[in-house]
Amino acid sequence: MISFSHNKILTDYNTFHLPVYCNHFCEINTVAEFSELLHQKIYNENERLILGGGSNLLFTSNYNGLVIKNNFKGIKIEKRDDQHVFVSVGAGENWHKFVLWCIENNFSGLENLSLIPGNVGASPMQNIGAYGVEIKDVFESLEAVDMLDGTVRNFSAAECEFGYRESVFKRKLKNRFLISSVVFRLSIIPNFNTSYGAIEQELEKAGVKELSIKAISDAVIRIRSSKLPDPNVIGNAGSFFKNPEVSSDKCASLKKEFPDLVSYPLENGNFKLAAGWLIEKAGLKGKRFGDAGVHTQQALVLVNYGNSSGAEIFDLSQKVLDAVNEKFGVILEREVNIIS
Ligand code: EPU
Repeated sequence: MISFSHNKILTDYNTFHLPVYCNHFCEINTVAEFSELLHQKIYNENERLILGGGSNLLFTSNYNGLVIKNNFKGIKIEKRDDQHVFVSVGAGENWHKFVLWCIENNFSGLENLSLIPGNVGASPMQNIGAYGVEIKDVFESLEAVDMLDGTVRNFSAAECEFGYRESVFKRKLKNRFLISSVVFRLSIIPNFNTSYGAIEQELEKAGVKELSIKAISDAVIRIRSSKLPDPNVIGNAGSFFKNPEVSSDKCASLKKEFPDLVSYPLENGNFKLAAGWLIEKAGLKGKRFGDAGVHTQQALVLVNYGNSSGAEIFDLSQKVLDAVNEKFGVILEREVNIIS
């Protein structure tokens, strides 16, 4: 029997810690529970929002509808071969706890993605990535429930259509599927990825002689902790914007005017720019408007110092977009999902 709460406050369900209310709220633990929910009036008569860890969304007002907290649990080794282990993980498991479980078991592949806030179910949704690794590199498949009729469907990596912080679940199939579990293909023989400069520097600083997945995870945790605000202390949702892609001509003309522009070449001939750098050079790093601010250490992150509203954070994001566009002629795109 599913239990519902009404007029529920969501402060503890979003990492900006915004005290917004939703009309109705329930938690779903199994496919059977979802099938039960599907036939209920409350489900069919309301707008619905699937909630994971709440670490990549911004509520700009109260939510007028039904919030469904995805609470599928469990970690299970599905199969092994000579080099890999295939692990199925419930969408409602905490991401970082799962990464630590992999490290304890010596399964390599996710160590670079240590300390990312949120739950496992959101990881394929936006193809989370950090320090040279994206989820698509170790993704095998996922299971999802069709929100229209409750049928369960498997998605391969190709079917997820992964891109930079993108998947089919943010585009064509937006709001259509509830991800119930994800299977990761992890290596038994470690495959270290230390190509991201900051990791190499951090390993050197720590005097690491023998590389291990634990050493990489520890290095990532130290880097993230030094740059990114802990959402348990200061409300935030990680990078608020994506790093923008520009043509090689645009990149060259910007480089002429701003020789220290941070850019990375892409396979398609375009260049990716560091949005954090653009925001900093537009003069907004560390700026604060009431309790909404641009983080002091990493300008890509917007923070709630305590009593900001979602609308104020959204307004700040618009100021950032305008300032970057005015100075560089580059239009940033929000990475965080805006829920109004
Ligand atoms: N930079 C600045 N000023 C800033 C921030 C960054 O000049 O305020 C410069 C840095 O000096 C560096 C470059 O921008 O030269 C890149 O910075 P960083 O290594 O911090 O990475 P990022 O591109 O800003 C991305 C991800 C992060 C991820 C890091 C590490 C996006 C939108 N963000 O940030 O992901 O942790 O790389 O791989 O791609 C997230 O998605 O929530 C997130 C935190």
